[in-house]
Amino acid sequence: PRPILLTRHGESRDNVRGRIGGDTVLSEAGELYAKKLANFVEKRLKSERAASIWTSTLQRTILTASPIAGFPKIQWRALDEINAGVCDGMTYEEIKKNMPEEYESRKKDKLRYRYPRGESYLDVIQRLEPVIVELERQRAPVVVISHQAVLRALYAYFADRPLKEIPHIEVPLHTIIEIQMGVSGVQEKRYKLMD
Ligand code: G3H
Repeated sequence: PRPILLTRHGESRDNVRGRIGGDTVLSEAGELYAKKLANFVEKRLKSERAASIWTSTLQRTILTASPIAGFPKIQWRALDEINAGVCDGMTYEEIKKNMPEEYESRKKDKLRYRYPRGESYLDVIQRLEPVIVELERQRAPVVVISHQAVLRALYAYFADRPLKEIPHIEVPLHTIIEIQMGVSGVQEKRYKLMD
């Protein structure tokens, strides 16, 4: 069976400031994670010549992939983070203070809530369909470097978790989730490379 490795990008400058969305570069910790991830992937997939690395089109995932040598890298717009629309670049406190109705409606139904001029989790799940089709078709291992909301949806698909749980699944930073699909179902391993 071939593994699928899921990971968020290394910590970004916006993660440090608590800002959602955006397209910033990595923090120092994020850069360190990128190096550790490269080490891990190069060892884990050493004899896997057909393996590939998939990222979003955002800098923080591309930079996280950049130290990995020896595998082709593919950028997918469908792997970009949930589009927070008018809230892009804000902190949760700012949204709560400046747009309290938006904050409350999201809290009430995080799965269906769509940011004004942005996306909902359901939108993200829908745009991931071609990625999932392609992942299912792959015979070789794939490393997917993406974002929290997107990885919640991908993980839920492979781990067979109910739709309503998706917006609340924990996908920690600096951790690799390895999914193995075999005849006896799906197996999962986690590797926490740093705090
Ligand atoms: O920037 C967006 C976050 O990764 C998604 O988090 O859906 O829990 O607000 P949230």
